[in-house]
Amino acid sequence: MSEIKNVLVSGGLGYIGSHTICQLVQHNYNPIIVDNLSNSCLEVLNRLEIINNRKFKFYQLDCTNLEELEIVFKENKIDAIIHFAAYKAVGESVKEPLKYYFNNLISYLNIMMYLEKYKVKNFVFSSSATVYGIPNHVPLFETDPVQKATNPYGSTKIMIEEMLEDYSKVHKDINIAILRYFNPIGAHPSGLIGEQPNGIPNNLMPYITQVAIGKLEKLTIFGNDYPTSDGTCIRDYVHVMDLAEGHVLTLNKFQKENTGLVIYNLGTGKGTSVLELVNAYMQANNIKIPYVFGPRRQGDVVSNYASTKKAETELGFKAKYTIYDCCKDSNHFQQLNPNGFVKINK
Ligand code: NAD
Ligand code: UD1
Repeated sequence: MSEIKNVLVSGGLGYIGSHTICQLVQHNYNPIIVDNLSNSCLEVLNRLEIINNRKFKFYQLDCTNLEELEIVFKENKIDAIIHFAAYKAVGESVKEPLKYYFNNLISYLNIMMYLEKYKVKNFVFSSSATVYGIPNHVPLFETDPVQKATNPYGSTKIMIEEMLEDYSKVHKDINIAILRYFNPIGAHPSGLIGEQPNGIPNNLMPYITQVAIGKLEKLTIFGNDYPTSDGTCIRDYVHVMDLAEGHVLTLNKFQKENTGLVIYNLGTGKGTSVLELVNAYMQANNIKIPYVFGPRRQGDVVSNYASTKKAETELGFKAKYTIYDCCKDSNHFQQLNPNGFVKINK
């Protein structure tokens, strides 16, 4: 139990990190941003400053660089760390496993070295619903077994969860939260920040938004012969602003009690099929999204969505945004930024 003011946000210029910065500011936390710009750009910092009407302390450095990372801890009294920095493309992780193991594991280990050295008492880790593997049932509970990963990206999440459990056993005074995100979509209501993947998107929502602005011709829905009501896969799509709020609620809890290690699913608790999402997008934005059905994508699970009961009871977390809000906000961001994060003046 201790007051939290300064929050080191690694990967803070990325998709989820940047939205979390806004929520942290709203709740009077002071984010200190670290990012190596490997999957983001400086313009995100500019936009965060516009949205929040303030400057941020930003360190452009790589968390795998032990020496450089220490500067952040030497120059600031860090009260909590939210560790987003990682590579996250599943397909790429299969092709380049070493790159993923190196970046995700070494970044984590370096951060933890300094957490210990500089006596930081609060740590939040970005995990993923991917740790549940192929579910035997839905909704998924935090007590459900973690299954062997099908790709190196997923392995890094499982390995870090295990390392955190080992660490927590002997450091019960450190508050550690493993947050398992389901499928974040949507964007900040301002339309200034959002998801901006490099190249052709792998994930559903960025693909739809790029079809919406005519950058891509049509969506291919991967499989319509699954055992679901409309034959397409089911996921738990959660608005990124809700997800961001989940991090703030976690820090709030850390300030009130000594939690030790806790694990929370962050989702909506509702499953939505691919077709339902595409239809919601068309309705919410009055836009036609041409689509065709294609073969199943290898490795896809039929259905996965969260039980959010634990996060609701213990954190007070409840998703406020609907699927329609998500579709509107994703579209708003994409329409305002058809060419990505082009510089805008303050
Ligand atoms: P993102 O790629 O948009 O953000 C990650 C940020 O970390 C980027 O800005 C990147 O430049 C930075 N980064 C990467 N390696 C770094 C390093 N070594 N040093 C410093 N900065 C580094 O990804 P995101 O969608 O915001 O995801 C954030 C976290 O949440 C990741 O750990 C990801 O695995 C996890 N997650 C994401 C999803 C999702 O669907 N987006 C789902 C589950 C879990
Ligand atoms: C993917 C990752 C998962 C990661 C999650 C969130 C894989 C196998 N899994 O999962 O590890 O945690 O993103 O980042 O990549 N879809 C289409 N057409 C498309 C794109 C997607 O039909 O062009 C379908 C998919 O088949 C799936 C659904 O849309 O049924 C959602 O796909 P996606 O956004 O990639 O998320 P996940 O499959 O949940």
